[in-house]
Amino acid sequence: MTDQSPLAFPPGFTWGAATAAYQIEGAANADGKGPSVWDTFSHTPGRVRGGDTGDIACDSYHRYREDADLLSSLGLSAYRFSVSWPRILPDGAGQVNQAGLDYYRALADALLERGIAPTATLYHWDLPQALQDRGGWPSRETALRFADYAAIVAEALGDRVAQWITLNEPLVVANNGYRTGVHAPGLRDAGAAAAATHHLLLGHGMAVAALRAALPSAAEVGITLNLTPVRVTEGADGSAAALERARLITEASTNGVFLEPVLTGRYPEHALPAVLPPDSLIEDGDLATIAAPLDFLGVNYYQPTHLRAGDPGDLRRNEETSIAGVDGVVQYRPAGLARTPMGWIVDPEGLYELLLRLSKDAPGLPLYVTENGCAAEDYVNPDGVVDDVERVRYLHLHLDAAARAIRDGANLAGYYVWSLLDNFEWAWGYQKRFGIVFVDFGTQRRIPKASSAFYADVAAANAVPPLP
Ligand code: FCB
Repeated sequence: MTDQSPLAFPPGFTWGAATAAYQIEGAANADGKGPSVWDTFSHTPGRVRGGDTGDIACDSYHRYREDADLLSSLGLSAYRFSVSWPRILPDGAGQVNQAGLDYYRALADALLERGIAPTATLYHWDLPQALQDRGGWPSRETALRFADYAAIVAEALGDRVAQWITLNEPLVVANNGYRTGVHAPGLRDAGAAAAATHHLLLGHGMAVAALRAALPSAAEVGITLNLTPVRVTEGADGSAAALERARLITEASTNGVFLEPVLTGRYPEHALPAVLPPDSLIEDGDLATIAAPLDFLGVNYYQPTHLRAGDPGDLRRNEETSIAGVDGVVQYRPAGLARTPMGWIVDPEGLYELLLRLSKDAPGLPLYVTENGCAAEDYVNPDGVVDDVERVRYLHLHLDAAARAIRDGANLAGYYVWSLLDNFEWAWGYQKRFGIVFVDFGTQRRIPKASSAFYADVAAANAVPPLP
C-alpha cells in the first residue's frame, strides 16, 4: 500500500523559479547594452529555428515589475535570474554601463519589496561579443575579465542579493558553444572546447574570490552544473566489463569534468583525454583557485544518460553513439519512459539518485535544484486556459522525488522550477515552451498555466501531495 499522506519539505525550504537574461529580457540594444555572442548567433541565418532572436523575448527588461508580481502571486520565496554581462560591460571589460547596474538593482528591489529573495547568476551564456572577438572562453583572459565583472556586480548588488551563482552549466558552454557549435558562438573545435573548459572553471574560481572580497560575509556563493546520472542496462552477453568502462568514462567526461575540479581540485582520472585541457594551460595554483570552498551547489536536472550493449556502427531505433567510444556500448533512450517535446526522457528517479549521491560525495554541502522542468505543447484552450497536464505531472513526479531524497538524507535546501515564463529556448527559439506561465509573444500577455497553480499549492503547503 502506498502512503497517502503528503511528503513534507523542511521548514525554510526555498521555493523558486528560474530564468536567464538572454531568454527573457529582450531590450537587446537598450540603454547602452553591448552585443553578446547570442545576439550575434541568433542574427546569423540558420542558427536558430525560425530565425528567432532574443531581441524582444518576454520583454522582461521593461516588464520586470509585472513578472515580480507573478512570482508574488504564486507565493514563491526566491527568483533566480541572470545578469547580462554586456549590459554591465558593453565591451566585456573597461567602461561600466551604469544603466545596466541600475536595472538589476531595480529588479532586486522589486523582488525584495514583494518578499522574494533574489538569486543572481552571473553567467548564463551571453558572453560579450567583444570578448569572443578576443578569443572567448578558450582564452585565459576571459577568466580574468569574468572575475572583474563579478566584482563590479557584487559591489552594486551586494546589499540586495544574498545568493550568487557564478556560472550556469559550463559543460553546455564548452560542448555546445565550442565543440558541437549548436550554441553561440557556434565553433566546432574540440581543442577550443577543452581550453574553454579550463578557463570557465578558472573564471568560476576567480569569481568566487572576487565575490567573497566584495560581498557581506553572510552572502552565499555557488555554481550551477547540469548533472546526469549515468545508468547501465546489463545485457546477458558478458558485456559487463565494457559497460562499466563506458559508465566510468561517460560519468567522468560529463559530470566529472566540472564537478571534480570544483569539489576536489583535480580533473577526473577516467575522462576522455579529448575533453580535458592540456597541461600546458593549467598554471600553478589554478586548481586550488577552482576548488575554492562553496556555500552550495546548484544542480540542473533534466534526464539521466542510459548505456547498453550495442553496435555503435549499426545503431538501432532510440540508440546513439556514446561519447565514451567503448566498443560494444551505445547510449539509448529506454522505450518505456515518457518523453517531452525536447525528446528528453521523464525519469524522476534520476533526480532522487543524483541528490543522494551528491550528498554522499560532498557531505554538508547544501544543494539547490536550480533548474528542473519540461517543455510541453502548450496552447490557450477555448476557455482561455492553458491546461498543461503534462507539466503538472512532470513537476509532481520530480517534487515527489526531491522530497523522498530529502527524507532519505539528501541535503537539499531549495528548488527552482525552469522556468517562470515561456522564453527563448536557445537554438529552438520560441518553439519550445518551458514556462509555468504562458507568454503570448505577440502581445506579451502572461497567462499562468495549470502548473503554476499546482506549484503554488506545493510551495504554500511546503509539501507535495501523494502521487495519483
Ligand atoms: C538548460 C539551460 C536553460 C534552459 C533549460 C531548458 O540547459 O540552463 O537556460 O534552456 O536547459
